[in-house]
Amino acid sequence: MIVLIGGEKGGPGKTTIATNLAAMRTADKGDVLLIDTDKQPTSSYWCSLREDRGVMPRVASIQKYEKAVRTEVMQLRSKYSDIIIDAGGRDSPELRGALLVCDKAIFPLRPSQFDLWTLGRIQSLVETASEINERLRAYVVINQASANPAVKEAEEMRSFLDEFEDLKILNTVIRERISFRRSALHGMAVTEYKPEDPKAVEEMTSLYMEIFE
Ligand SMILES: Nc1ncnc2c1ncn2[C@@H]1O[C@H](COP(=O)(O)OP(=O)(O)OP(=O)(O)O)[C@@H](O)[C@H]1O
Ligand SMILES: [Mg+2]
Repeated sequence: MIVLIGGEKGGPGKTTIATNLAAMRTADKGDVLLIDTDKQPTSSYWCSLREDRGVMPRVASIQKYEKAVRTEVMQLRSKYSDIIIDAGGRDSPELRGALLVCDKAIFPLRPSQFDLWTLGRIQSLVETASEINERLRAYVVINQASANPAVKEAEEMRSFLDEFEDLKILNTVIRERISFRRSALHGMAVTEYKPEDPKAVEEMTSLYMEIFE
């Protein structure tokens, strides 16, 4: 499966989600490729850190830009069971190219008005790409929601998202947890990091299952 993690805005957690899914999928399937299309190549940096520290399994990754994102995915899709693309934080040739070749596009959003304002543009990018890519299914996942259960932002966001026909909201809500940052510093997925944060592991596992199963 080709899974794109994209968006229109900096910082909602694309790289966090792309790297976690890549490590988890590699552990399950082996032949997984992470493509970093961001010119600030954070995913690639995470991969080299992982390699330097000898974290296993090794996550295969490449960097591709502009048209090469689309052509490379078309060439490599038969060689890997899954390709995960970290598409960077804005409307770019990389994001548009990846939308044309992916099966699922996941857009992480924080429960903030500023992130919600990007939904109209995301929906129109998805609509345009769908005219060419019939397989494309697009989803929003809420990330960095408050870990305080009394704060109902994630639920409020869910009702707002009902308006966007082409964007399905995933059931998983990922909350603001220090272990997502700490595990990244070690080139790890949160599922690999010790001491284990069971809530973070449960959230990322739930996202993984929603996407891959
Ligand atoms: N659920 C979370 N809990 C705590 N910290 C998080 C969470 N998700 C992401 N972060 C942190 O927020 C920051 C931004 O996340 P990340 O780099 O994954 O976003 P991005 O969308 O890839 O950003 P960019 O647009 O710059 O590529 C990072 O420091 C990351 O560790
Ligand atoms: Mg990033």
